[in-house]
Amino acid sequence: MAFPDGFLFGSATASYQIEGAVDEDGRRPSIWDTFSRTPGKVVNGDTGDVADDHYHRLDEDLDLMASLGLEAYRFSIAWPRVIPEGRGAVNQAGLDFYSRLVDGLLARGIRPVATLYHWDLPQVLEDEGGWTVRSTAEAFADYARVVGQALGDRVHTWTTLNEPWCAAYLGYAAGVHAPGITDRLASLKAVHHLNLAHGLALKALREVVKPDAEFSVTLNLHVFRPVGDTGLDAQRRVAALGNAAFLGPMLEGVYPTDMLEVTRSITDWSFVEEGDLETINQPIDVLGVNYYSSSNVRLWDGAGERSRADGHNAGTATPWPGAEDVEFLPTEGPHTDMGWNIDPAGLEDLLTALSERYPGLPLMVTENGAAFPDEVRDGRVHDADRIDYVRRHLQAVQNVIARGVDVRGYFVWSLMDNFEWAFGYTKRFGIVRVDYDTLERTRKDSADWFAEVIRTRELPETP
Ligand code: FCB
Repeated sequence: MAFPDGFLFGSATASYQIEGAVDEDGRRPSIWDTFSRTPGKVVNGDTGDVADDHYHRLDEDLDLMASLGLEAYRFSIAWPRVIPEGRGAVNQAGLDFYSRLVDGLLARGIRPVATLYHWDLPQVLEDEGGWTVRSTAEAFADYARVVGQALGDRVHTWTTLNEPWCAAYLGYAAGVHAPGITDRLASLKAVHHLNLAHGLALKALREVVKPDAEFSVTLNLHVFRPVGDTGLDAQRRVAALGNAAFLGPMLEGVYPTDMLEVTRSITDWSFVEEGDLETINQPIDVLGVNYYSSSNVRLWDGAGERSRADGHNAGTATPWPGAEDVEFLPTEGPHTDMGWNIDPAGLEDLLTALSERYPGLPLMVTENGAAFPDEVRDGRVHDADRIDYVRRHLQAVQNVIARGVDVRGYFVWSLMDNFEWAFGYTKRFGIVRVDYDTLERTRKDSADWFAEVIRTRELPETP
């Protein structure tokens, strides 16, 4: 079966993970600069100081994308490059970099899919409360307008936020991501102000960008598989915090009652002001879905140790405020290098459920991919495991398309190996290898394979 006409094949990256050049041309620190420089926060003390040095290798990387035949490229814009003090003065040099990127994409026939926030909040704004305060959402809208004015004549798809779940709960509850705070109430305020930022930014963007631009947001929606008698109850609680906390306000204009119930001992949500939900509930053209793995859940029965076998649940504090009783059970293998299980059926379930709940809303897989401990042999990486992972998830996408689900594209995470947040450079997700000593880029077998999928618009037979 061929992928439908118009289905977009792309790859994704994020500014802090690839750019480097953290103090060049007027960029000021983000929360990830601060966090990665804090001892003990990132494996090996790795930072994004150099990363893939993409900032200085833009043309080479653009040529690489073109050589793969990418039809779209999903990148993020670093707020602290564009408005280094978080609000106020605009740094033209920062905007110019992204303008060159967008022009370079268009010159190669690649659609620019721009994300405004992939976690690199200007540190100065964190110093004023970060996402726990409303003023950050307002500053984000101003930043969105500035970027929209500069690039709005050329960017095809605008994404406000990448995975606000991670920004809020991993950043402010579990503390395993920047800014490294472990405060349940703070994380729920962050949820709301990220949602608000999304709504305010969409309003601002719509006023300044070209009329045929598309608007979206990317969520890491979770697939929870209920286990045993208490599985459904457990699933209801974490699905409220993990999925409905964003889908509810953004697409339905409400915070779900389940969520208010689960978090009742933490907050009455009085920081949600009159009119906020209407602001958040803006129409979007496409919903971005990031999917890697699934979780098995049930309620902890109080006996023995509570299992937290969830790849995103590794800190000492939980990223599930109010759902501390939910137990994450080990998943069936095989697992990737992240410890995440490989469950392509989860992607089918997720896309199907979304299409049923939100008929008429096109979906796009904005991230999917896998880290494996690649081995270099004769200068090559024969990553059959990554090919298999991507193939099975693309097959899942084909399966749901065949059943009538409107999926518009697939972006592999990631174009190249990069700074994998708290795991530093120890986890390799790229279809292109980066040698961190020489910064040389080498296509892995998966890159050749993906290029062939794009060229033929079909999944090749497996050998
Ligand atoms: C997602 C992030 C992305 C990358 C992948 C592996 O949660 O959006 O930046 O780190 O996971």
